[in-house]
Amino acid sequence: MKAAAYTALGSPEHLTLVDLPAPVAREGELLVRVRASSVNPIDWKIAAGTFPFNLLKPPMPYVPGFDVAGEVLTGHGDFKPGDRVFARMPGQRGGASAERAAFEASVAVKIPEGMSDDDAAAVPLAGLTALQGLCNEGGLTRTGAEGKRVLVVGASGGVGHFGVQIAKAAGAHVTGVCSARNVDLVRSLGDDDVVDYGATQVFNAGGDYDVILDCVGSDAPTRFTPWLRAKGTYVSCLPNASVFGRQALGALGLGARVRGVMMRSVADDLRWLATLWERRQLRVVIDEVFPLARAADAHRRSISGRARGKVVVHVE
Ligand SMILES: NC(=O)c1ccc[n+]([C@@H]2O[C@H](COP(=O)([O-])OP(=O)(O)OC[C@H]3O[C@@H](n4cnc5c(N)ncnc54)[C@H](OP(=O)(O)O)[C@@H]3O)[C@@H](O)[C@H]2O)c1
Repeated sequence: MKAAAYTALGSPEHLTLVDLPAPVAREGELLVRVRASSVNPIDWKIAAGTFPFNLLKPPMPYVPGFDVAGEVLTGHGDFKPGDRVFARMPGQRGGASAERAAFEASVAVKIPEGMSDDDAAAVPLAGLTALQGLCNEGGLTRTGAEGKRVLVVGASGGVGHFGVQIAKAAGAHVTGVCSARNVDLVRSLGDDDVVDYGATQVFNAGGDYDVILDCVGSDAPTRFTPWLRAKGTYVSCLPNASVFGRQALGALGLGARVRGVMMRSVADDLRWLATLWERRQLRVVIDEVFPLARAADAHRRSISGRARGKVVVHVE
């Protein structure tokens, strides 16, 4: 099969099209003909050796990608050949930037009728992070969150644009932080208020939030925690020593509630995102679609930090 693989650790110059043996589905796994994948920062951070929890370097060639949308070739359980499925492939081994992928059936969900392969591939990792960050860590309820106030920092990115819509669908009042060029996009996702981080000193904007979802991580949690309501939570998508330190203090009642989200492949959560899409409460914003042969350019686009929504790799 064709795959886009890193042949050495480092930058996307090492990401190239190669021929590899197709994976074989083990017990409990699906073999999928991949139609599309999407890029997440973890893909190129693992390749660059900068992913904080990546103690083991991936074996070469390393096929990046965790998000997959495609057609079942070898089924298991409820899934039969021909079914269209999407998933965040579990573990840290990647493997989605290829014509075939094998992964546990338990994390797969059928793609909703009418959703394109590119849109489906864009959802899992970023959407699950936003959902689990807001709800599991931040304590927002999936529905009935009227009266709650949510701030999404990095509202135009992969995680942030889903976060805005998930919080809005829950019923919350949502404020997004983005740059001037993305104000219209973020408003179109349903934001009630937008803070342009170029025009406004973000920390002067003030606030009064139940949940702050930080998808940028360039500032310490303590820059945000003064904006929290009494039982509010600051959730970082980039948990580091400072976040975990504050998380421990907060759990002891010493300071504000701070949490780091570590996204998990949970099929029920992905099903919820599919439901929101079916209800037209979740729109997938795609920055750019690249063919598999240009996976390196897709990674470069993600590395730029300027993507609006998701960068997709179309495999077939
Ligand atoms: N912990 C987990 O489980 C988990 C899961 C997923 C992602 N993450 C991490 O979360 C981070 C975000 O991921 P992502 O996929 O959303 O990244 P992304 O799509 O690459 O984020 C790019 C977006 O961030 C915006 N941005 C950059 N600097 C900003 C700032 N100072 N203020 C507001 N917006 C800013 C950019 O808009 P402008 O161009 O307008 O600035 C752009 O739209 C990454 O570091 C990723 O590794 C963690």
